[in-house]
Parts: sequence; structure tokens; C-alpha cells
Amino acid sequence: MSHTLNIYEPLSIEAIRAEFPILQTKVLYGGHPLVYLDNAATTQKPTVVLEALDEYYKTINANVHRGVHYLSQRATDAFEEARRKVASFINARYDYEIIFTRGTTNGINTVSSTFGRAFLRPGDEVLISAMEHHSNIVPWQMACEYYGATLKVIPMNERGELDQAAFATLIRGRVKILALTYVSNSLGTVNPIRDMIRTAHTYGVPVLIDAAQAVQHMPVDVQDLDCDFLVFSSHKIYGPTGIGVLYGKEEWLNKLPPHEGGGEMIKTVTFGKTTYNDLPFKFEAGTPDMSGAIGLKAALDYVDSIGIDRIQLAEEALMSYALDALSTVPGIRFIGEAEHRSGVISFLLAEHHPFDVGELLDKQGIAVRTGHHCCQPVMDFLDIAGTVRASFSIYNTPSDVDSLVTALQKAGRILG
Ligand code: ALA
Repeated sequence: MSHTLNIYEPLSIEAIRAEFPILQTKVLYGGHPLVYLDNAATTQKPTVVLEALDEYYKTINANVHRGVHYLSQRATDAFEEARRKVASFINARYDYEIIFTRGTTNGINTVSSTFGRAFLRPGDEVLISAMEHHSNIVPWQMACEYYGATLKVIPMNERGELDQAAFATLIRGRVKILALTYVSNSLGTVNPIRDMIRTAHTYGVPVLIDAAQAVQHMPVDVQDLDCDFLVFSSHKIYGPTGIGVLYGKEEWLNKLPPHEGGGEMIKTVTFGKTTYNDLPFKFEAGTPDMSGAIGLKAALDYVDSIGIDRIQLAEEALMSYALDALSTVPGIRFIGEAEHRSGVISFLLAEHHPFDVGELLDKQGIAVRTGHHCCQPVMDFLDIAGTVRASFSIYNTPSDVDSLVTALQKAGRILG
């Protein structure tokens, strides 16, 4: 691998880009080279991940935890090695605190439905924030509706920062769990979750962190944060789609009932009664996504080979370059100007609809996301239909930003 540099050396961006085959492709509309700035939606995959998937199906494929035969044991070893990799990547205390899920949404639903069943009663409260993705709103709304609890929301200001005074009041209510995003996918705000977790714990409230937009941009240490649950998706950190991670503290995972029933999550089954398996298998009913876990391990190895600290430094520098460069575009209005931001820059161009701007960017080879970004309440609060969102990753360059700026200027001229 080319990434043997230490933290003080600059990232070799050419070497990194060369490892992502899709970045070498041309998109339609005049053969513009792809400028991929939709990384908050999903990241591209480096060759090492693609090769790990290929290798898995060519040489290891078998069902895990079931067969005594050679292949099944190899598949099981590789799958459990992937679990250990995830545990060390987020510094979980125990490997069995890592549950493989289908992704962030599935992880949150696993907690909301099992926590709801075990702990939510009429009159209880679930606390979330005003900047949550739909995936950290709707599952809790459903649980509240089902168990007669109330959903409470920490408000934010126009800059996209949570109101900490309001939080300090709300957390004193009958809150049973706090579910909070680390980094906002629509505004880029990095929330002060460490302090908020500490505050929640002083009231005995467990905390679930949605780290879908965090793990790829900054070091995440679950023991240091002291969060009770944390979820993320593989596909946003250079891994395959269809797999994600639910971390839970052992004590909490043991307090929750299983989410889905089926094979793997049981110890014994009779028609009269089933006894459940130990962690982590209690939460992994059915055949898991073996290739996905192995691909995720390759992605995390890849990130580690560069170093998440160095990625953070490089991306922060790029974000700051992008903010300066974009502010020269006539008519631009940034949406979300929190002091601490990561990964995402949302904006509007004059009064133009974000879809129109996005379409004109697309015609110039630039991929961004437009719309409400699965955060309708954020858009309602800001009284806008949506935004144009440029989101950054390890392989983006100042030249990508320059292309975006030029393309936006052109879009502005066309739209008038
Ligand atoms: N949650 C992803 C995004 O923000 C899909 O684009």
C-alpha cells in the first residue's frame, strides 16, 4: 500500500485517488471527469474493498457459525475477525458489543423497538434533536406512539447549533433515552456529544449516538465518549452497502430483548419456549452479511492505513478551502453555519430551487445531493424547500472545489 506516511506528512492525494476505480470514469454530458461531492450519501470504494469482496466469494464463501467444514470455519474466522476490527476501530471494550446490522437505520430501529418494549411506558419521554435525520426521528416516533411515550426535541438556532440551555431543561424531564446525531447530514454541525452524554448520564439517561456522518471524518472512541449505543453504516466509510454496526455497552445489550427471531439468535428452541443466545448473536438472527462484514473490515483497514487523524486534518483543510472558495460565488447563501462543522456544506444559490442548481451541476460532471436530505424538520425550521449539499471525503481535492465553484457560477448565469 502507498499509505505508509506518518501523521505529519501530507496525504498523497494522487495515490489515494488512484485506489478508487470509479474516480477514473467519465460521466455523461460532454465527458466531464467525475467530481464526486455526494459522499454524505455514500462513499466510493477503494480497490482493497472490491478485492476483499471478490476474494471472499472466490475463496471463502460458506455460512458462518454453522458448519464444521473447512470453508465454514474460514468464513466464521473472517467474519469474527471483522467484528474484532470494528471493535478496535471504535475502541469498544468487548468484541461482543459489536452487532452487525443492515446499516444505521436498522441499528436505530433495533434499539428503538427493543428499548421501547423493555423500558417505555405511558408518560415517558424520548429526547432527540431538531437536526436528526428521519432515521433518528421516525423509529422513535413509532416507539412513542406504540408505548404511549412522548417525543421531545432539543431545539436549534438559525446557525444549526443545538440550544444547550434548552437541553439542560429537557433532560430533567421523564426522559428514558436520548438519541442524538454526532454530525448533522444536512448542515454538517458537529454536536458536543461528549458533554451532552455526560449531562444525560447525570440524570441516568442512556444515549444513542448516530455516527453515520462521523466515523469517516474523525476518531470515534466509544469508551471515551461513554455513549451507551452508537450506530454507523459501512457504505459511508468506503465499505460495501447493506451492512452497518450497532455498538452497545454490554450492560445495555443484555438488558434489551432480541429484535428479530430466527436462527443464530437462539440457544435452544422447543415449541413451548426458546432461550436466547449470548451477545452478539442474540441480535443477529439469520444468516449475516458475511461478505459485507469482510468488506467493511477491508475499508476500516484502509482508513487505518492512512490514519483517521490525518484524514480529519486533510478534510478540515479542504472544508475551509471550500468555504472560502464558495463564498466568492455570487448569490450563495450557506445553510448551517455552526462553529464546529464537518464533511458537509449546504447552501442555496440566490432564490433558485436546489433541484435546478443540482441539475446544472450534474450537467457539468458534478455530483451533489439536493433536497431535504431526509431532514424535513430542519428544512421546515429554516423555512426552505431544501438545499444543495456538497459533501467531502478523503479523495476530494481543491481542484474538485474549484470545479464546483466554476460550475455554480455558470449555473447562476444560466438561471439568471
Ligand atoms: N443519509 C444519507 C444522506 O444524508 C443518505 O445523504
